[in-house]
Amino acid sequence: MDKLSESLTKIVDIARLAPSVHNTQPWRISTQNNSIVVELDPRFTLTDGDPTGRETIISLGIFCEALTLSAATFGFACQSAKLDDRRAELKFDENVSEQARMDADSKIRLLRTRCTDRSIYKMRELSDVDLQSLQASSHIDGVQVMADSDPDHIKKTAGLTAQGIQLALSNPKFRSELSQYVVVQNSHKKRGISVRSLYIPGLIAFVEPFILRLGIALGQEVKLEKKRWLSSSGLVFITTDGDMPEYWFAAGKAYLEVALAIEALGLSQATSAATVEASTFHEDIEQMLGTSKRLQCVIRIGEGQKNRAYSPRVDAAELITSN
Ligand SMILES: Cc1cc2nc3c(=O)[nH]c(=O)nc-3n(C[C@H](O)[C@H](O)[C@H](O)COP(=O)(O)O)c2cc1C
Repeated sequence: MDKLSESLTKIVDIARLAPSVHNTQPWRISTQNNSIVVELDPRFTLTDGDPTGRETIISLGIFCEALTLSAATFGFACQSAKLDDRRAELKFDENVSEQARMDADSKIRLLRTRCTDRSIYKMRELSDVDLQSLQASSHIDGVQVMADSDPDHIKKTAGLTAQGIQLALSNPKFRSELSQYVVVQNSHKKRGISVRSLYIPGLIAFVEPFILRLGIALGQEVKLEKKRWLSSSGLVFITTDGDMPEYWFAAGKAYLEVALAIEALGLSQATSAATVEASTFHEDIEQMLGTSKRLQCVIRIGEGQKNRAYSPRVDAAELITSN
C-alpha cells in the first residue's frame, strides 16, 4: 500500500467536516496511483433539492478543497484537482513546504470549529479590513469573491432570498426531500441539518420534519428567513466567469476558503441557495453588484450564537470505498 492510501482514513477524517448542501455528504472516496478520487454516491444526491446538480458540485469543490488542506497537514501536496463529469481526481506528491503545512494546519483548526448558524444575528460593525480579508481569502481562477455591508444590498438580498425560499417550499417534493435531511435532537442520523442550528423553540424543532413535509406555516418560515437575512452585518457573494460544472466546482473551492476566513474573524455564517437557484433572482443580485459574472453562492455573516450547534457527519470509514 502506498503512503497516500495509508493516510487516507486520517485525511478523510478531517475533510468530512466540510459543509455540503443539506449536509448530504454524498462521497465515495478511493485512492489510485497517488490520487484521491471522489465520486458521487447516488443514494445521497438530491433530486428535487438540486435539480441541476449545481449545489452538489459546489459541495464537491468544497470537499476537495478540504481534502487538499487535510492532506497537506499529513505531508501531501495537491498538484491538481480535476472534475470529470460527476467525479473529481486530486493528484498528490510529497513536496509540501513547511509554510504550506503550517497554513494548512491553521485552516484545519478553523474547519474544526466552523458551522452554519441560522439564528438571527446581532449587528456587528465590519471594517473595510475585515471585508478585504474575506475578498482576498481565495485566489481561484475564474472565481470572484465580493464582500460588503451595504444596508441596501442586505435588504434586497433578504427580500430575494425570502421569495426564493417561498418558491422552493411551495414544491411538495422539495419539502419532502428536505424533511428527510432534518436531524432532530437525539437522532442517530449522520446526514442532514441539525434542528438546533435553526434556533427555533424546542417543541417546534422536534416536529420540524413533519411541519416541513406537510407544508404547515410556510408563510411563517418565509418571514423568519427574511428576518434572518435582514439581520446580516455583511454578505459575501461568490461569482464565476461561466456557468458550467467546472465553474461550480471552482466556486466550491473558493467557498471553503471564504468560510474559513469568516470563522477566523470570529463571525457566524449561513448560506442560502435560494437566490442562486430560484427563478432569475441571480440576475437581480448580479445587477445589484454591477457584475456580468454568474452568481454561485451567497453567505450572510454577523454576530451569531455563542452556543454552537453542529450538524452530524458520516464516519470516514463509511465514505471510503477502497484503498
Ligand atoms: C452548496 C451549499 C448550499 C447550501 N444551501 C443552503 C440553503 O439553501 N439553506 C440553508 O439553510 N443551508 C444551506 N447550506 C448549508 C448546509 O445545510 C450546511 O453546510 C450543512 O448542513 C452542514 O452543516 P454545517 O455547515 O454546520 O457544517 C448549504 C451548504 C452548501 C455547501
